[in-house]
This record gives sequence, structure tokens and C-alpha cells, in this order.
Amino acid sequence: MRFYITTPIYYVNATPTLGNAYTTAITDILVRHQRQRGADTFFLTGVDEHATKVWRVAEEQGLEAQEYADRIAVPWRELAPRLNAEPDFFIRTSDDGHKSFVREFLQRMYDNGDIYQDVYAGWYCVGCEEFKGEEELTEDGLCPIHLTKAEWIEEKNWFFRLSAYQERLLSLYDERPELVLPDFRYNEARSFIAGGLRDFSISRAGQPWGIPLPWDESQVAYVWADALVNYVSALTYARPGEDLRERFWPAVHHVLGKDILRFHCVYWPAMLLSAGYEPPQQLFVHGFLLLDGSKISKSVGDRVDPLDLIDIYGADALRYWMARAISFGHDGNASIDGIRERYESELADDLGNLLSRTTAMVAQYRAGSLRRGTTEPPLDFGALGADVAARLDRFDVTGALDALWEGVRALNQYVTAEAPWQLAKDEANAARLDGVLYNLVDGLTALTVALAAFLPETAPHILAALQQSDDLSWDRVRNGVAQEVDGIAAAKPLFPKIEPPAAAA
Ligand code: MSP
Repeated sequence: MRFYITTPIYYVNATPTLGNAYTTAITDILVRHQRQRGADTFFLTGVDEHATKVWRVAEEQGLEAQEYADRIAVPWRELAPRLNAEPDFFIRTSDDGHKSFVREFLQRMYDNGDIYQDVYAGWYCVGCEEFKGEEELTEDGLCPIHLTKAEWIEEKNWFFRLSAYQERLLSLYDERPELVLPDFRYNEARSFIAGGLRDFSISRAGQPWGIPLPWDESQVAYVWADALVNYVSALTYARPGEDLRERFWPAVHHVLGKDILRFHCVYWPAMLLSAGYEPPQQLFVHGFLLLDGSKISKSVGDRVDPLDLIDIYGADALRYWMARAISFGHDGNASIDGIRERYESELADDLGNLLSRTTAMVAQYRAGSLRRGTTEPPLDFGALGADVAARLDRFDVTGALDALWEGVRALNQYVTAEAPWQLAKDEANAARLDGVLYNLVDGLTALTVALAAFLPETAPHILAALQQSDDLSWDRVRNGVAQEVDGIAAAKPLFPKIEPPAAAA
């Protein structure tokens, strides 16, 4: 099975926000999980540099656009590793490999007769980097998202004949009911297409920052016509001497926010068809993580630096909070205090304590030796694993984590119900005590393997404390996976208390 997954490439007009960290972290959870299931995976992320807003910020700072982009690319490249995310490639749209591929790609669309010259006269929102119809603006001519004035543009541009693709896109949607998830986003994209498609400009005149069109070097590619192509271009040069297109195209799953649905679910498949490529296998559109009611956005200005939160709580805790605090796929309101609450009550108390008490009891009552015993396990972990895998196949990251947390809580309840400290008082209960302790270690091992995609840094610590193999293959999410071992010692706290109180926001 092949599984290629992408995040959008981020505009570099400012440093990363928590909203961008959200997309990257969740995408990493999805790809790690598929890798555990044995898929041949590729995870792409990166930055979108040729935007008008990037060019303007560079000008404001008195820098050449390329120099500005080179500087700001550094914190962007660091974002994924700081989040414990492991992309296979980090693309920059100023990479030579990308630039030459975009020219080739657009040339194919041109040769296919899908590109023509016309005059664009209309509005443009630099925040959205999007041409806007009058009806999309407020009465005062503001972009309703950025609340900034749209700019009037009148220039001779090259247009893509999107309207010619309406029928093909509709058939694609009809043939592939899972092309776009969740369902309500599929419906949104399909009705946009059914409502009639307008050709759009794929070039800009009068802006030197961008990729010149091969047949008209006086114009540069419109930033979206450049950026979307990254999903294919990266495959051609990510591994020198190797073309990954055969392996990973079209086995691609695009993860994106709802604000860029049209570009991905409508424009992009049409561009691919025009250039002679298969459309993507699947697109998952997620909602916004709202912090105390507002979207965290670079251009709106209310930012939370994800790196501050990582410094306080650690990357795993941040990943956990992002996956659990709001339902992935929907908008959700979270509060910064919520990270602390979940860190203390769920990560430290539910999971951390489960490990501490389990290891402490094996150490105290069995001198560190784990033996199977004959006691029935409290849960069918194989069934839980199948449920979690099915949810993650549908990108239900939050549902999967909720189900796993039920498992963590069930094991804690099992401790309370079985009260090993009582069993330990009477030698006649020895076999039962062995069985209960085994079930705890075994259940925690299975859960840890399943949680590893969410908590990649923590999972190996748990397995090591339980003296269990660090193999994360998904077939270890079942009952009876733990080995009989000796030498289990009381584990150190997984999520230590954080002092002094966090002042993150
Ligand atoms: N450069 C384009 C994407 C080009 S992809 C070919 C872009 N960049 S962006 O930096 O503005 O946004 C990137 C992604 O971050 C989008 O999917 C957007 O939805 C997401 N998010 C930004 N803030 C967010 C939240 N507060 N919550 C969830 N996602 C958010 O668009």
C-alpha cells in the first residue's frame, strides 16, 4: 500500500503560528499511523514563497525577496522537527527543481490549449492571494476574512480554461464519493462545481517575484498556479537521481484547511487533468482551531507561537492537545489553559500514573518479574485497534484518540477493581495477581503502540519502562503481546509537574 500525504505549503510572510503547527502535527499523526500499518509512505511539507504578501514584507524590511525568504525559511524548516514530526521532504517553491517543474507543467497546460490571454479587471485580496468577485466583498469593499481593502487590478493576464473542466470534474466527484472528506466538504466542493466554473488568471504582470511563464517571460505564475504544483514537483527531485512520481502519484492525500478548499478540490484536479496527470486520490479538509474564539492567523495578527508551548509542555503534549481538544474536520474553540488541564489530568494522571503504578506494583509484588498468569484481560485490544485504524483511515484523528483514551481509562479502572494491593496480601491469590499485572503491562503495551503516532517521543519511554520491544508494528495492538520479562522497575513520571504555572498566551 502506498500512502503519500501532504500539508499545504505555508506562506512565509511571518513565522509559524499555532494554526500551521496544527496542520503539520495532525498530518504527521496520520502518516506515522499508516507507516505502522506497513504502508510505503511519503510525507511532504514546505513553504510557499512567491506570494505578493511575501514580496511586500521583504520590501518593508528592505531585503531582496529571495534573501528575506532564505532567512524566514529557517524557522519554518524547524517547525516540523520541533513538533516531533518527520516529513520526508521540505519543499521551498524557490527550489530550482520546483521552478523548472512548474514551467514544464504550465507549458503542458498551454500546449493542451487550455491557456489563453485576456484582460483581468477586478479585485484581489493580498491576504487571501485570491481574485475576488464584487459579491465576495463587504459593502465597503473589504475582504470579509482579512478585513482589509481589496485591491483593484487591471492587467493583461493568462487565463486557465477552468470552465472547460466542469463536466469532467463532476464525473470525477460522482465516481469517487470519497474524493473529498468529510462528506459535507465533498458536498460543498461539488456544489461549487455544479454552480458553474469561471476561468481564472494563472499569471501576474508587474510583479517580478515569481516563476516566469515559459511562453511569456514578462509574466510570473500566479502564486496558486505555482504553489499547487509543489505536490508533484517535489516527487521529481526530493531524492536525487530518483523520480518518485511512479511510486506516489496519484496515491496522494492532501490535508488542508477549509479556507483553501476551492483551490485544492476544484482548481487543482482540473490543472492536473489539463497537464495530463491523474487527479489526487483524496483530499481531507479540516476546520479551524480557534483560540478563545479567534482564528490564529499571520495576517490577522493575533498569533500564538507554537514553539513557546512546546518549550513549556513538550511537543507530544501539544500534539495530544491539538488532536483531542477540537474534533478534527470541524471548527473548534480551544483555550490555551486547556493544554495545561489536559497535560495534568490526562497525560500525567491517566497515562503517566497508569505506567507508574503498573511498574511500581510489578517491582514491589513480583520483584520486577512479569509472568502471564491466567486472568482474562479487561478489554479486547485487537478490536480496539481495528476500530482506531478504521477511524484513522477516515482521518478521524480525534475519534481515534478518544477511543484509545477510553482504553487508558479502562485499564485504570481495572486497577481499582482488581486492587492488586489486596491480592498481594494472600499467597493464595498469586496466580491471579500475576494475571492482573500481566494484563496491565500487556494492555499498556498494546495501547502504547497504538498511541505512538500521537506521542512519538513518549511511546518508546513507556515500552522501555515495561521492558517490552520497541517494535511499533500495528499487529502488536492486540491481547497477549507482552513478553514475560524480569527487571521491571518503578518508572519515573512520564509527564512531570510543570513549575512555575505556564504563562503561554
Ligand atoms: N500557501 C497557501 C497554501 C498553498 S498549498 C498549495 C496557504 N498558506 S497559509 O500559511 O495561509 O495556510 C496554510 C494552512 O494553515 C491552511 O490549510 C490553513 O487552513 C491552515 N491554518 C492556518 N491557521 C489555522 C488555524 N487556526 N486552524 C487550522 N488551520 C489553520 O494557505
